Amino acid sequence: MIEHDVVIIGAGLAGMRCALEASKELDVAVLTKVYPSRSHSGAAQGGIAASLGNSEPDSWEEHMYDTVKGGDFLNDQDAVEEYVKAAPRIIYELEHMGCVFSRTPDGKIAQRKFGGHSKPRACFSADRTGHAILHALHEQLMKNAKSVKIYNEWYMHSLIIDGDRCNGVVVSNIQTGEVEVIRAKAVVFCTGGYGRVYKITSNAFASTADGVIAAFEVGIPLEDPEFVQFHPSGLFRQGILFSEAARGEGAYLLNGKGERFMENYAPSRMELAPRDIVSRAEQSEIDAGRGVNGEDCIHLDLPHLGEARILERLPQIRQLGIDFLGIDCITDPIPIQPTAHYSMGGIPVDKFCHVILDAEGTKMNGFFAAGECACVSVHGGNRLGTNSLLDAVVFGERAGKSVLEYARGKDFGNVNEGQEKTKVLEKFEDVFQRDGSESYKDIREDMKEIMMSHCGVFRDEKKLKVCIDTLKELQVRFKKGKVTDKGKIFNTEIYEIMELGNMLRMSEVIAEAALYRQESRGGHSRTDFPKRDDEKFLHHSMVYDSPDGFVIKTKPVVITKYPVTERTY
Ligand code: FUM
Repeated sequence: MIEHDVVIIGAGLAGMRCALEASKELDVAVLTKVYPSRSHSGAAQGGIAASLGNSEPDSWEEHMYDTVKGGDFLNDQDAVEEYVKAAPRIIYELEHMGCVFSRTPDGKIAQRKFGGHSKPRACFSADRTGHAILHALHEQLMKNAKSVKIYNEWYMHSLIIDGDRCNGVVVSNIQTGEVEVIRAKAVVFCTGGYGRVYKITSNAFASTADGVIAAFEVGIPLEDPEFVQFHPSGLFRQGILFSEAARGEGAYLLNGKGERFMENYAPSRMELAPRDIVSRAEQSEIDAGRGVNGEDCIHLDLPHLGEARILERLPQIRQLGIDFLGIDCITDPIPIQPTAHYSMGGIPVDKFCHVILDAEGTKMNGFFAAGECACVSVHGGNRLGTNSLLDAVVFGERAGKSVLEYARGKDFGNVNEGQEKTKVLEKFEDVFQRDGSESYKDIREDMKEIMMSHCGVFRDEKKLKVCIDTLKELQVRFKKGKVTDKGKIFNTEIYEIMELGNMLRMSEVIAEAALYRQESRGGHSRTDFPKRDDEKFLHHSMVYDSPDGFVIKTKPVVITKYPVTERTY
């Protein structure tokens, strides 16, 4: 049995920031199914928010208000306040760690505009901000290599729970196929989101709900899973992110008639309204037949920004347009469409990243979560752009501090290694023995298709019921698949099947919660309930697993500073 004081699952921004903190005193393991530098945080482009006020006067209060209004008042405001107050310190720390931020002419950290933010607040490294931070944190981890062991290309299968305490995880080495138990005093999940359940998504292949479903399977509820963010600018048919930074720099959105249609949806903010509003506007134009050339896309127009500005500030997305669509945004508009981008919901945690089991805040001892897989909830019903890198770093650090506090001087808990390993080996065996005729690839595509068409930007009861029925059928088909590679060494097929199992389960959770919430708020838009209903639904949803199906309970929203008001832009 492997032993570490702390095991962190996931090596993106949250995981690495957590490891840096926890390893100040403890022996830490970071386990990733890819490599740290390939984590999905590296795909974040446009910036990280902080009220530095380097371009215009700004304050944490304004950052907080924008975040709460952007989240359609579902955010827990006590957490938001601490989070936005921490932001400037976090940025300067990253700078001192070696993160190369773009600069103003007088040498300050440059800040650009972003959707839903009333001030230029996005600190950025051209359009590779996630990449720059990821590498700065990775370098720091390398420096601390004595107290941090990184397990690259290992897969986490399940949590080890003993009563109200988490004592470790069961994992396997993807290279060798060996299943191992890691006993730990504390486990931290920084496993990211689950955008891969959708056909069009900006998420990396690794964003498959492994962490959230492992938590769900041991009785932990999932909070607000119905709130999935669609980013307004995914490359047409590819879903690849074409940063909101383009609009921050001044790009226009045009429908098939060449009109700047945002005038009709958010006249005061135009292209820089929050993402839920812009994505709905785009989808409405497309649905009304005003897409470009009658297709499911609209245009993002940049040529008026000029070549020099595009090359300096948006070099990566320019290249993505050329590589994936054969279009150079210096000269031509880019066809885009809404793309599944971010999960506002996730594993419920308190402000200190402790995983909680209910509305009363009952803790699962020794289990923590941070970053996109967790729901604090600082983003409420809709996250503002650039607030997720901030979330990952602020709460990654917090999780590290909480873990230190918790695990310092603690003994290891009980683990029955044989029993835990057997459960996972049986899971492998179950899949290997299947000899059905179903193709896992087809099942995956059918899941993505139904989630996109029936549980996407717009939802209604009829569509959601069809979605849920289809997902149930897919679960039946999933048991009738066939594995072609029965070997142990680097068997990526078996891991993809396990990821698919997690995604099918996650899709059901999202659709059930979306059916439950009979209102429209933030990223959850029900055409049969088009208004926000604060009387009935100003609460978080908490979805539990049970032998009789899903059970949905509620958790109050924490409102401190900003009362709930109408949300207009
Ligand atoms: O558009 C973007 O650059 C994405 C940023 C974010 O999701 O925070």
